[in-house]
Amino acid sequence: MTEPARGEGDGERRSAMDAALPRVDHAAGHLVRAAVTAPSVHNTQPWLFSHGEDGLDLYADGGRRLPLCDADGREQLISCGAALLNVRLAMRRLGHRPVVRLLPDPCDPARLARVGWGAYARPAADVNLMYRALWQRHTHRGAFRPSPLPPPLTAELREHARAEGAELYTVRAPHALRHLGELVRTAEAAHRHDPGYRAELAHWSRPGRDGRPDGVPVGSCAGRPDGTGLTGRDFTGLCRAVPAEPVRRSPGAGLVVVLTTPGDTPEDWLRAGLALQRVLLHATVRWTAAAFHTQPLEVPWLREQVRTAITRGEFPQMILRLGHCARDRATPRRPVEAVLTAG
Ligand SMILES: Cc1cc2nc3c(=O)[nH]c(=O)nc-3n(C[C@H](O)[C@H](O)[C@H](O)COP(=O)(O)O)c2cc1C
Repeated sequence: MTEPARGEGDGERRSAMDAALPRVDHAAGHLVRAAVTAPSVHNTQPWLFSHGEDGLDLYADGGRRLPLCDADGREQLISCGAALLNVRLAMRRLGHRPVVRLLPDPCDPARLARVGWGAYARPAADVNLMYRALWQRHTHRGAFRPSPLPPPLTAELREHARAEGAELYTVRAPHALRHLGELVRTAEAAHRHDPGYRAELAHWSRPGRDGRPDGVPVGSCAGRPDGTGLTGRDFTGLCRAVPAEPVRRSPGAGLVVVLTTPGDTPEDWLRAGLALQRVLLHATVRWTAAAFHTQPLEVPWLREQVRTAITRGEFPQMILRLGHCARDRATPRRPVEAVLTAG
């Protein structure tokens, strides 16, 4: 697909490219420093970047795909899509319109996207706020405060998802919440009983301060994973069984939303990542955090149930809870030099 990503393309791609500034390494570094703040499954940071005359290229790092939890690479591409949104934002922050081409490129089939330097555009106020939110956004695990989200925020988040070609479903009906809770719980129980999956998760869990720049520090998992209406992924490795009781909505669950796309191709997964990050950053600007519960989307028959029972046939890509809480801890990132090469 050679179209620019929705919301960033323009009809004058060629002239925009012609108006580009000289491409220098520190500008590429600026883009990648922003990119790597993106969320990624198990904090694998499964991306690589290459900069050249035409802009910045994004690749998936095949060695960082999770073979059991993410066999088809869907969550890896969602993670890369989130990083791509950050690149766009950082380029806008520097005063340039990003000119984005999404995969596939017959000349370089492994490339996920190329972001070229477009024409000058003064960064709007919302760009500056979203850019600042890159460093303020952290994944929440556990309960939220009982305060509800203001209704306009839900509509704004849906608009951000739609701008990237995705949809954001809110799950409010008690029977739908119960059903989704059961699907999350079933998936988490299956994961906890699977030795291969447990080993893969343990590989990316960081029980102590070992100085490694990736994986999920157990210190960023406040509260027990089973403490809210949606069972959490157990990065501690200490919770062998999920509670036998059917899941009930807890007051601290927050607003449950499911991000979907109309198709389920690698391009849809990238677009889901763009939409995810836009939603997360806008939420951050509005002092709202997100918790992730993607376990049922990693088990094909459960994902199919989410699709048919919850999202009206649209393909579910992410399951989130949104709410208010104290600021969460930052997780480590690999340095720019580890993920950026000259093209
Ligand atoms: C595709 C995807 C799936 C994720 N699934 C979960 C999940 O099921 N449970 C969870 O606690 N976090 C999940 N996360 C959040 C990551 O663990 C988190 O982004 C990563 O540890 C980096 O931390 P940060 O978001 O605080 O920067 C997911 C993130 C992505 C992008």
